Amino acid sequence: MSFGLGHGKALDDAPGEVGVSDAELGPLPDSVLTDPESGRIDPRAWFDSPDRAFELEIGSGKGTFLVQQAELQPSTNFLGIEWAGEFYQYAADRIRRRRGSGSHANVRMLHGDATEFLRWRCPDGICRVIHLYFSDPWPKSRHHKKRVVQHRFLADAWRVLEPGGELRVVTDHADLWAWDMAHFETWVDRSDLGEFVDEAPLDAARRIVPAPPESVRRLRDTMHEPPFSIGPFERPESAADGEVVGTNFERKFIDEGRSFHACVLRKLA
Ligand SMILES: C[S@@+](CC[C@H](N)C(=O)[O-])C[C@H]1O[C@@H](n2cnc3c(N)ncnc32)[C@H](O)[C@@H]1O
Repeated sequence: MSFGLGHGKALDDAPGEVGVSDAELGPLPDSVLTDPESGRIDPRAWFDSPDRAFELEIGSGKGTFLVQQAELQPSTNFLGIEWAGEFYQYAADRIRRRRGSGSHANVRMLHGDATEFLRWRCPDGICRVIHLYFSDPWPKSRHHKKRVVQHRFLADAWRVLEPGGELRVVTDHADLWAWDMAHFETWVDRSDLGEFVDEAPLDAARRIVPAPPESVRRLRDTMHEPPFSIGPFERPESAADGEVVGTNFERKFIDEGRSFHACVLRKLA
């Protein structure tokens, strides 16, 4: 239970129904360091109809995208992952209340670090879409390692996506976008990047983006060449007129007059 974002009202994440409980997730065994498969757990089993398509949102914030889109897409299971406790509670409570009116049985929330979940827990080839909207920009250099997009994350996203599965990205933040693109150029056909980013910011980002670590380079060598294609972002059905994706942060930033960057990486296999 939490009271902060609920403005005095108790927020209830309904563990085991909406919130993924500790018992459902289970402990991460020590053996993952030598045997990565030993930590995997299939999140599709957390849903009433595990055979449905599975999509995952990283950093759901207040859960606006999930609440809107899951209702329009009832034959898909959605897992929102949010590491900030108050936002996790807020989003899970919203979904719990919708369930009371008979909808949103296809949405669950996990409290934790989505990049760790992908790396250590998520099995291969299970996910149709990974949604990453208005990810925290972490502007200070010493915090860049906290940005979601890293070479390690892209290797994990590729592994977890089904063939043809998509990583959908939207941001308002020009430096984060250039950072993303300076990573993506290692993972897509470089000649396709031109329509998404100008050369000057890309060049600046190249100077600060670390090279892929050896472990990722080895994985990269086992993948399709290139691992992803890059293409334009298609608005989800839940986005309102004039919106790109229709999240809480987008609505705040539209009011501030900001512009947005968006793309889709599609897994080639
Ligand atoms: C700027 S907010 C955007 C929220 C929402 N996507 C939107 O567009 O309204 C970014 C959210 O991602 C969460 N977040 C950042 N990194 C994360 C990670 N590695 N795992 C889970 N959540 C993360 C933050 O706590 C925050 O709630």
